[in-house]
Amino acid sequence: MTAKRRILVTSALPYANGPLHLGHMVETIQTDIWVRFQKLRGHECMYVCADDTHGTPIMLRAQSEGITPEQLIARVALEHKADLDAFNIGFDNYHSTHSEENRELTYRAYEALERGGHIERRMVRQAYDEKAEMFLPDRFVKGTCPRCNAANQYGDSCENCGATYSTNELIDPVSVVSGSTPVERESEHLFFKLANFETMLREWTHSGTLQQAVTNKLEEWFSTGLKDWDISRDAPYFGFEIPDAPGKYFYVWLDAPIGYMASFLNLCREHGWGFEAWWKPGSPTELYHFIGKDILYFHSLFWPAVLHGAGFRTPNAVFVHGFLTINGEKMSKSRGTFITASSWREHLPTEPLRYFFASRLGSGLDDLDLGLHDFVTKVNSDIVGKLVNIASRCSGFLARNFDNRLAIKLPEPDLYEEFLHKLPSIAESYEQRDYAGALREIMALADRANLYIDQQKPWLLAKNPERANEVHGVCTQAINLFRILIMLLKPVLPELAGKAEVFLGGHELAWEDVQRPLLGSKVNHYEALATRIDPAAISALIAANQQPQIASTQPATVNTSATTNAIGMSEATIDDFAKLDLRIAKIINAEHVEGTDKLLKLTVDIGPELGTRTIFAGIRAAYEPHQLIDRLTLVFANLTPRKMRFGLSEGMVLAAGSDATDGDKKIFILSPDSGAIAGMKVK
Ligand code: MSP
Ligand code: ZN
Repeated sequence: MTAKRRILVTSALPYANGPLHLGHMVETIQTDIWVRFQKLRGHECMYVCADDTHGTPIMLRAQSEGITPEQLIARVALEHKADLDAFNIGFDNYHSTHSEENRELTYRAYEALERGGHIERRMVRQAYDEKAEMFLPDRFVKGTCPRCNAANQYGDSCENCGATYSTNELIDPVSVVSGSTPVERESEHLFFKLANFETMLREWTHSGTLQQAVTNKLEEWFSTGLKDWDISRDAPYFGFEIPDAPGKYFYVWLDAPIGYMASFLNLCREHGWGFEAWWKPGSPTELYHFIGKDILYFHSLFWPAVLHGAGFRTPNAVFVHGFLTINGEKMSKSRGTFITASSWREHLPTEPLRYFFASRLGSGLDDLDLGLHDFVTKVNSDIVGKLVNIASRCSGFLARNFDNRLAIKLPEPDLYEEFLHKLPSIAESYEQRDYAGALREIMALADRANLYIDQQKPWLLAKNPERANEVHGVCTQAINLFRILIMLLKPVLPELAGKAEVFLGGHELAWEDVQRPLLGSKVNHYEALATRIDPAAISALIAANQQPQIASTQPATVNTSATTNAIGMSEATIDDFAKLDLRIAKIINAEHVEGTDKLLKLTVDIGPELGTRTIFAGIRAAYEPHQLIDRLTLVFANLTPRKMRFGLSEGMVLAAGSDATDGDKKIFILSPDSGAIAGMKVK
């Protein structure tokens, strides 16, 4: 056994402004498997994470729900934790970036950076929304990328070429808060001088074990030059106020990765462990961050530079994964494939999804697809048909004929050895995050074990009482092969493995334990370890995530649990209805949208409490803009805002319509009786 390693591992901190979806689960499952593997090998491995709670979207969302940001993040934290628990993500700690530990470490890092001369203040001209009376955060301005000219990119980074830049560099900017063209206003900002760290970053790039694609991306960024990073935002902002710059706050991306450390500090304080030893430069402990490819720039440039500049150690590596698609396409609300973690667990067991993701995850940055049909076939065939089958075929003989006691020796020790010989390469696959490779080898062994049983035919041997010893031997051999497989699958299937360990006698298996077979001892009563997935559950899942296609193009996000009544109409309870905030709204402006013949861009006034919103409605076929201005209508106001190609849509106008698909589609927006005023709530 190699020396005991001390490893700290993180997953990216999910934003606290929405529910977790299956894309998030790819990452936490990938990380959790790696951590469980390290623990199984006997290493000291800690896994910490947190909710990422700061920033303008969270502030605006809390505002629109009429609660404080603290209330919002407290609620979301509970939802996130329930999901993560249900998928068996075994964090050693799950914390929040809105915590005292994070404030302390953020200030500490900032002060060290300032002392080191890495912070600079200068006036910037920044996008300001005169209508909404606020400086516009990067993500609320859209325009054309100054680097590659891709249209419709956010104000801070380009999804097309991966560049980051400041908002004022964006070409043809538009405010997605109000739809107006932002003006420029002066304000003093704080900058982190990234270029001070070029030498250090180049060294870092070549010192560790970065994926080739990551190294290439870094080379590209070096060659285009490292730019200063704007780390402050003006009030109003939900975050940490900068100690020596009142009215200014740290940009969420400064304190978010420090949240990794804060979560660990919180854990250390709980247990009285030393935090500093893990974080001092040159620490022999290992540090890895699992992230998606969209946040590579933050983790491979800013983060190591901030750590280094603040006097901390740097990560050994960032492990970058690709993006999840479902049925071959980006997750989509209208196709019912924008699947939240909570709706998955309402309809299906979670462990098979861990298995399926693992079977699709390699060590690179490739995207992975969850084909829902493939999912059912794969897990039914591998887990039920191959793995569990081994134990279920043999346990009956042991119970009936041998009082559940295993024989005292293996009839085929060579076959057992053959399995053991595969362990190092399977370990190497896990270590390299090539779970697809690991599972292929493990399933080949499961096939081998089933072949052994097929050839020995214990069910025939059992008919002849004189051959009882042989039956006993075959079953003992098969159960021991099964035990190796269970040990190997523990990182992926912790729940199933736990039940199998109980069956095998109740000991928790570690990697080395299978070096010696289990002989002469008793196994416990066998209970089914897994059941087949019914494809009907998949249909129900899709139906529950499918958004009704009303005239508006805005998909709903309230998940209705799909109960159906006698005529096949889905039923909703009064509680479901109470989730909807329906308001009378006055349409104060309506205009055509360039690049679409379906949408109108509406500006609606929803009364003093909710203010003015922009809504893109799919009603252009039925209305001319001037017919709508000054009309009252009904708006679904607490619908999750949706980023569209044309801007942010912040609600849905209710309309009735015929289902005709021949182009002769009639649409009627709803209006209240006279006397109603904007802001009134539908009850
Ligand atoms: N809050 C930041 C991370 C801060 S880390 C200091 C963030 N949050 S996120 O909620 O948008 O994403 C969290 C993680 O989930 C990221 O690593 C992201 O790449 C990953 N994924 C989000 N959607 C995904 C898919 N569709 N597929 C795979 N991973 C995806 O970014
Ligand atoms: Zn670009």
